[in-house]
Amino acid sequence: MTRVFSGIQPSGVPTLGNYLGAIRNWVPMQDRHECLFCIVDLHAITQFQPPAQLLAQTREMAAALLACGLSAEKCVLFVQSHVPAHAELGWIFNCVARIGWLNRMTQFKDKAGSDRENASAGLYVYPNLMAADILAYKATSVPVGDDQRQHLELANDIAQKFNHDYGVEFFPRIEPFIQGVAARVMSLRDGTKKMSKSDPSDQSRINLNDDADAIALKIRRAKTDPEPIPEHLSGLENRPEARNLVGILAAVTGTLPENVLREHAGQGFGQFKAVLTEALVAHLAPIRAEMLRLLQDPGALDAALHRGAERAEAIAQPVITEAKRIIGLLPRR
Ligand code: AMP
Ligand code: TRP
Repeated sequence: MTRVFSGIQPSGVPTLGNYLGAIRNWVPMQDRHECLFCIVDLHAITQFQPPAQLLAQTREMAAALLACGLSAEKCVLFVQSHVPAHAELGWIFNCVARIGWLNRMTQFKDKAGSDRENASAGLYVYPNLMAADILAYKATSVPVGDDQRQHLELANDIAQKFNHDYGVEFFPRIEPFIQGVAARVMSLRDGTKKMSKSDPSDQSRINLNDDADAIALKIRRAKTDPEPIPEHLSGLENRPEARNLVGILAAVTGTLPENVLREHAGQGFGQFKAVLTEALVAHLAPIRAEMLRLLQDPGALDAALHRGAERAEAIAQPVITEAKRIIGLLPRR
């Protein structure tokens, strides 16, 4: 059976982008594959997180993932820092990955911005830890949004170099699984930037715990252009905001952007936004309600995460031990 791994940072409440680009695709996988889903708190601290907030957001993320339909029985749901294998293999991969490879990572450039000298060293080696997350379980299928493609290529380069340097066939090849019309949901304020839970403007995103009023307000204020909805996809060229809203409506109503255009061609954005708001509220209200319900029992959430970490550890431990034997950190049997 294929082993699936994916991760999400507890750096805020998950957004509509996380949901449509990643989480929603994870849910059906739990019935068909062995799945591990990880709340990557060690990745989150590559940019400063206030401690109490980090703890609260880790729990909130667990509640959000369960509310979206993940089951703590069907999949292994856990927190990265609870399983030491991630940090251990991450260090080993720091010694395998080349500085030249990391220098090409566009996410580092985006996140570090113009003050690169002042970014944490952790932010720089972030993709090595991500490779360790996956390979500590020898997972081969990784469902992510489109922005993670480059990191997965790097993970494969690391696995290959490790195998080559030590003359083994130990780490498997990873296949990215990038799916759906909304693999890249953009900011509501700027159609050229991805929707992100760490964007300073809350108006730029829909959070999974936004209520109907918040969603309505954010969609009403979302940036658009004065042109009406076009008839064909070609009419969305150079209109990133329009393209984004059409893509979101297609994704939440389970159709293709072409069909959305066919139905709404000629409408202005006032009319279109009302339809979009209604569809979003219908889709997200049950998730929000379930999230709030789960958060009323933090003890149960913590217990589920604790159990998840035990199950994850049991899978990773033999892999790490074998990697250490291969490297010469432990004697060979
Ligand atoms: P992060 O929020 O960076 O931890 O991302 C968690 C998952 O959500 C990853 O698989 C990302 O690729 C995906 N993701 C994050 N933002 C977006 C977005 N704006 N559109 C689509 N997928 C996204
Ligand atoms: N880097 C990913 C993101 O920001 C999160 C992540 C960490 C991840 N480790 C992972 C995703 C392993 C897939 C597999 O979106």
